[in-house]
Amino acid sequence: MSIERIISRQYEIANGISNDIGLPKFKKYAMCNLRGGIGKTTLAFNLSYLTNDLLAVDTCPQGNLSYFFDNQYYSSQAPTVRDLILPYLVPGLGKATRVASYVGATNEYFADKNVYYIPSTEELYLLPSQLITAINQALGLQGAQKEQSLKSILYSLKEEIDREMEQNQLERCLIDTSPFFAGATQLAWYAADALVIPVRTDQQSVKSLELLINTLTSPQSEFRKYLPTNDLKVPQIQMVVLTHCGWSTVSGARNEPNQQTKVYLKKVFDILSRHRTLLSTGDPSNHLFMLDDFLGSGRISSVESKPLSLLHSGETKVIDRVRVSVNKSVDKCKHQLQYINQQLWG
Ligand SMILES: Nc1ncnc2c1ncn2[C@@H]1O[C@H](COP(=O)(O)OP(=O)(O)OP(=O)(O)O)[C@@H](O)[C@H]1O
Ligand SMILES: [Mg+2]
Repeated sequence: MSIERIISRQYEIANGISNDIGLPKFKKYAMCNLRGGIGKTTLAFNLSYLTNDLLAVDTCPQGNLSYFFDNQYYSSQAPTVRDLILPYLVPGLGKATRVASYVGATNEYFADKNVYYIPSTEELYLLPSQLITAINQALGLQGAQKEQSLKSILYSLKEEIDREMEQNQLERCLIDTSPFFAGATQLAWYAADALVIPVRTDQQSVKSLELLINTLTSPQSEFRKYLPTNDLKVPQIQMVVLTHCGWSTVSGARNEPNQQTKVYLKKVFDILSRHRTLLSTGDPSNHLFMLDDFLGSGRISSVESKPLSLLHSGETKVIDRVRVSVNKSVDKCKHQLQYINQQLWG
């Protein structure tokens, strides 16, 4: 298997004729890579629209996903993901329940979807130091008490997500994370069964992929060092999604990625080939997907908090006094998103 297979499959996906790869499916995914602006939130938002019975969790202090779901988010007083985590770090705080809210109530495009979300808060910027304080206190305990306390802290978000899913009878979960590992992102890794890793076609996001894999695998990493191997739930890598892909415009070239896309496709493929044990099928070509640059469609989708799947080629909107249009390739992007969605949940 090779990158040629990934590229040729891309043609089939774009035309809606590709077969299911048959990847093992998981219930809870964290969308992560340790770099900003590469498409984590955009992908989380668009995938939320494509499935049902979903709990979306925003663990990024920027709150971009929460804003997509509720444009009043920044002035909202509703309980947040922090209220779920904090009682595990600070003894004596009462536990919050039923924090998830129905997306259809605040985003009209989700009115016929059974999708709930747990909002973020900018106070999550302080969580890394609160988490490390709690971890250090636990490390000061002895024997079984120490292990129990560390597990309770590190699996706090997992515990609360599982409870919210059960209370709302939800089957699936997608957690958006921040570009920094410390704090809620770290807890999201313990909560997730598997990771979805967007990588933009640039050198910095390839570097972040290497950093992420190192954090996942190295025994001394912040992720691994607190728990013995038999207490540690290590998420699999379900997929890397190469975002912002572009295709050759040279006349005669058909289904040929442009030079930049090809370079990064190869780099990511090589990295995954060196870490096959993190992939459930062991074959990197089953876990690497391409997603075209959304161009104007992405801008309109963001400004309107409207899933890309609901946009139509040729529609226009004035953004910052410039007329932006939904580009022709939007149908291809819709197929790509559908395909990615199918490989996550079936
Ligand atoms: N194929 C694509 N996938 C995802 N985003 C895309 C794609 N093409 C264009 N974009 C644009 O790239 C930007 C990605 O921003 P986004 O907020 O999703 O990144 P992020 O990784 O969540 O950043 P942060 O770490 O700061 O939260 C958006 O403006 C989106 O419209
Ligand atoms: Mg984001």
